[in-house]
Amino acid sequence: MTQTEKLHLLHQLYQYRALGFDYIKHERKLAPPKVVSDDSLQTLSKTLASCQLCALAKCRKKVVFGEGNPNATLMFIGEGPGASEDEAGRPFMGRAGQLLTKIIENVLHVSRNDVYIANIVKCRPPKNRVPLPEEVDACKPFLLQQIARVNPRIIVALGSTSYHHLTGEFDSKITQVRGQVMDFGDAKLVPTYHPSFLLRNPSAKKEVYLDMLKVKSLL
Ligand code: URA
Repeated sequence: MTQTEKLHLLHQLYQYRALGFDYIKHERKLAPPKVVSDDSLQTLSKTLASCQLCALAKCRKKVVFGEGNPNATLMFIGEGPGASEDEAGRPFMGRAGQLLTKIIENVLHVSRNDVYIANIVKCRPPKNRVPLPEEVDACKPFLLQQIARVNPRIIVALGSTSYHHLTGEFDSKITQVRGQVMDFGDAKLVPTYHPSFLLRNPSAKKEVYLDMLKVKSLL
């Protein structure tokens, strides 16, 4: 490991400690670390409101922490906020969000308020580009805390960015893994296509429908 890599790792470990972790297994395949803090989601959200840990802080309007039932069985994790979400400070508010809401309510027959929705990064990347690895590294401890505090039984990874960063399986394509049920700590993880992809490729909706039937069978 180079000196820079060591410093980067140390920085990440300090972040985890500041968030209440006392132990993490440092592997590429990250399982949620054991949580020792019993702080609420609200406390975590307040910490994030003033976050300056990466360059996205400079161009965001609002931090998009996530929302939903704090005790949800089902959690959706997208990539990162877009323009509408940055304005509103809420996840999945634009066209992709409307489609996600339809999927949740019309296919899973669950109210959007009963699930929890978050993103890999909490601030909007400029021009909606894919978040950079250093941005994900800075934000991921917050997401892992969020997952640990909601403690869902099922997590749906929306799109390849979400799937890759949640599992560390950067070599697997979303087309190959979508619809599979994987272990993620104590939860099950099901990757599927991102709603924005569906807006551009409506013919892929039938695959997402099948993936959601699988999710429904796990509920
Ligand atoms: N796309 C995402 O990945 N997340 C949002 O919150 C909105 C659009």
